[in-house]
Amino acid sequence: MPARSDHKPELSLSKPALRAIYQNIGGADGLRAILRDFYARMKKDIIVGFFFTGFDTDLIAERQHAFLSRAMGATPSYSGKPPAQAHLELPPILPGHFDRRLRILEETLRDHGVSAEDIRIWVEFESTFRPGIVSPSSD
Ligand code: HEM
Repeated sequence: MPARSDHKPELSLSKPALRAIYQNIGGADGLRAILRDFYARMKKDIIVGFFFTGFDTDLIAERQHAFLSRAMGATPSYSGKPPAQAHLELPPILPGHFDRRLRILEETLRDHGVSAEDIRIWVEFESTFRPGIVSPSSD
């Protein structure tokens, strides 16, 4: 059983599809609008909101923007923390928290007019990070 920081998601299959999503949502500005809305919803949510107490969600959105821009092939590199390192100071993220995040992501993407197929691919991509983010003792 690898340590959670050893987890390497398989990105190769989804990369061309993620590139297409970036174009479909209107590039950097479209992605930013989605992520700002997404993190504002996360902070207001009854199940996962407490994780964001004291955090500026626009700043988190900007870091996620850098991360996803790399994953979607729009920028050559990402210099922030990898997802498995970014949450180590937070309370344990349990499977239900992770599931809730994916539902909020789905709802946000739908409200921004993202197609059902692009939502499926985006959610599948984010799901690959589950083993590195969900607290090991609870998964
Ligand atoms: C329920 C699940 C999650 C919760 C509650 C959560 C919460 C947070 C919070 C509060 C921060 C700010 C931490 C800080 O600045 O010290 C953060 C940062 C971040 N998260 Fe998450 N997150 C979750 C899942 C994910 C997933 C699935 C990804 C990637 C696909 C991700 C990627 C990131 C990145 C890239 C950062 C910024 C790293 C940096 O500081 O450079 N998170 N997250």
